[in-house]
Amino acid sequence: MGDPALLAVDNVSKTYLTGDVPVRALIGVSLEVRPGELLAVMGSSGSGKSTLMNLLGCLDRPSEGRYLIDGRDVSRLSRAELAVVRNRLIGFVFQSFQLLPRTSAVENVELPLLYRPLLAGERRRRALQALARVGLAERAGHHPNQLSGGQQQRVAIARALVGEPKVVLADEPTGNLDSVTSVEVMALLQQLVADGITVVLVTHEHDIAAFASRVITVKDGRVVTDVRQTPVPAVPHPTVAVAGTLHATGVP
Ligand SMILES: Nc1ncnc2c1ncn2[C@@H]1O[C@H](COP(=O)(O)OP(=O)(O)OP(=O)(O)O)[C@@H](O)[C@H]1O
Ligand SMILES: [Mg+2]
Repeated sequence: MGDPALLAVDNVSKTYLTGDVPVRALIGVSLEVRPGELLAVMGSSGSGKSTLMNLLGCLDRPSEGRYLIDGRDVSRLSRAELAVVRNRLIGFVFQSFQLLPRTSAVENVELPLLYRPLLAGERRRRALQALARVGLAERAGHHPNQLSGGQQQRVAIARALVGEPKVVLADEPTGNLDSVTSVEVMALLQQLVADGITVVLVTHEHDIAAFASRVITVKDGRVVTDVRQTPVPAVPHPTVAVAGTLHATGVP
């Protein structure tokens, strides 16, 4: 039914062997994500959400089971091969933004392109385009400490977009933001989905999960619920134009 899976997790388990006792962080998880989904992953602390995101993002490999992206099995690739897949197909957004501090917004956005054979001018052009897409063209020269939290997260989203990924993975992207700014970020993620990007995000908040088209719950390393829903449209605060210029937000 419908499109074939873009991401297919097939009976995956992940066991961490770092401490004295093995930790079974994921146990027999199967999950298919189709193109154009906005999937929210919920579950209590330690349930395995970030472990799942790390696998989806090719940051780590499963202990057992298979993971296919666009039909290609990536679960047995070397770390170097995984890095190539990651750089080509996946953009990441984190709760704490993870921007380099003494570096301008546009330079932060350019970072993923350093692994590609592009001339500096072309890198800059694409980074400025990505910043425009998140409504921050005018902030290109600002450093992270000269930006609000919401603006920093939008720079991070621009950085996730600059490589033209098929998938954006966001681990609690609104975790450090107030509710108004959270809606702004969710509006942006919904816009990405409308533009054809598939988004998977982790959240602890039901209000945020309401903006997704599908919600799964992870408990003790297993997916225990999986519900499709009509997403609530994220309508940003009227004085903030997400896709265009910033107006009258009071932020210098
Ligand atoms: N690198 C690691 N080495 C060893 N154990 C780990 C590692 N990463 C996670 N774990 C363990 O795996 C389990 C799942 O952790 P995970 O980070 O996926 O949870 P989470 O659902 O993201 O939690 P939170 O909501 O607190 O972020 C936990 O018991 C955790 O202690
Ligand atoms: Mg986590």
